[in-house]
Amino acid sequence: MIQFLHVSHTYEGAWKGIEDVTFRIDAGEFVFLTGASGAGKTTLLKHIYMEERPDPGRGGRVVVTFPDDRVYDSASIGLSRVQELRRDIGVVFQDFRLLTDRDVWDNVAFALRVRGHGGRFLRRRVEEVLDRTGLTHRAHAHPHELSGGEQQRTAIARAVAGEPYIVLADEPTGNLDRENAEGVLDIFRQLHAAGTTIVMATHDLELLDRMPHRRLQMEHGHLRTRWF
Ligand SMILES: Nc1ncnc2c1ncn2[C@@H]1O[C@H](COP(=O)(O)OP(=O)(O)O)[C@@H](O)[C@H]1O
Ligand SMILES: [Mg+2]
Repeated sequence: MIQFLHVSHTYEGAWKGIEDVTFRIDAGEFVFLTGASGAGKTTLLKHIYMEERPDPGRGGRVVVTFPDDRVYDSASIGLSRVQELRRDIGVVFQDFRLLTDRDVWDNVAFALRVRGHGGRFLRRRVEEVLDRTGLTHRAHAHPHELSGGEQQRTAIARAVAGEPYIVLADEPTGNLDRENAEGVLDIFRQLHAAGTTIVMATHDLELLDRMPHRRLQMEHGHLRTRWF
């Protein structure tokens, strides 16, 4: 479960990131985060994996609770527990953030190694995830050799390899044509069916109209609607 309680975030220079945002996402939900460019979607996602924290002194809190009852509260969490939290949250970054000097296989394997996996388990899991994201034939290509859709799928493969409880995706279909976007959505549908909590930022209206999930709509840093 992800809870935001009166969360505000002001960037240096007094840029409003988000302002007094309160909502709750239950375990296993698939939620869209919508809003125009600059509305605060990325800022909100960063608070979930605690790369950003609520403005100090204003009482806002982010609380993430995993199905095994572990609780991470932005009001009291230390750095080592942030690392622990992030092991159970897969993030598909807007700009991918792939390791450019490693091939697809190694990009995915890396995510497992930092979780302490190795050996046969790691190899099997990488193969399985590459198969599921349609990348088996690209396993030994480097990021600069991949199409936009393939880079996007590599970013997704890496985010989901460790079987995180929560997957956050920041405009994962943003740079893709329809066919590639559909392929990417299918991956998220399967993850959701398997019980993963998914929060997907998007402003792709066509996509939103076809998928019956709850929307959190951001506007100039404020949360406007909680239900569609
Ligand atoms: N690192 C940053 N420094 C200063 N301002 C930022 C930073 N990141 C985002 N902002 C500002 O915060 C607001 C929300 O941005 P963002 O969360 O990236 O929106 P979105 O993802 O919806 O496009 C915008 O006004 C943006 O300019
Ligand atoms: Mg953004």
